Amino acid sequence: MLTTWSPKLSMGFTGVDTEHRELLELASHILVQQPPSSSLHEQRALFERLEAHLSRHFAIEEELMAVAVFPSQWEHRTEHARLVDFVGSLRHELQTGGPALDLLSISNRLLLSWVVTHINTYDLAFAEFLRRAGTIQ
Ligand SMILES: [Fe+2]
Ligand SMILES: [Fe+2]
Repeated sequence: MLTTWSPKLSMGFTGVDTEHRELLELASHILVQQPPSSSLHEQRALFERLEAHLSRHFAIEEELMAVAVFPSQWEHRTEHARLVDFVGSLRHELQTGGPALDLLSISNRLLLSWVVTHINTYDLAFAEFLRRAGTIQ
């Protein structure tokens, strides 16, 4: 399973590819820096950064899909919302010390693989649509 940036994940948009690389680095960092390597406070700050980054990135991507009239944009948007919800629920667990703390390692691994899978499937499908439409090469 791919867990770091690879040219295979490139959409062909420099800006979007850079953001994907940063997202993967952040999700990987969360996995490495999970307690006890860092405090819950530090881990929560990383989740807040990831949430902000995801929200900004998804807004740009959703704007691009709307402009391109991408047929699968609503399914793609739903997946964005699910991913944001998941990150939000993990941050909430960190704030409240809830039951998922015991599962933090598994959750963080799931988060990283989810981000990779999202880029590899949903985002690359959008890139393929743009390529066929002649928008990108
Ligand atoms: Fe996406
Ligand atoms: Fe993306």
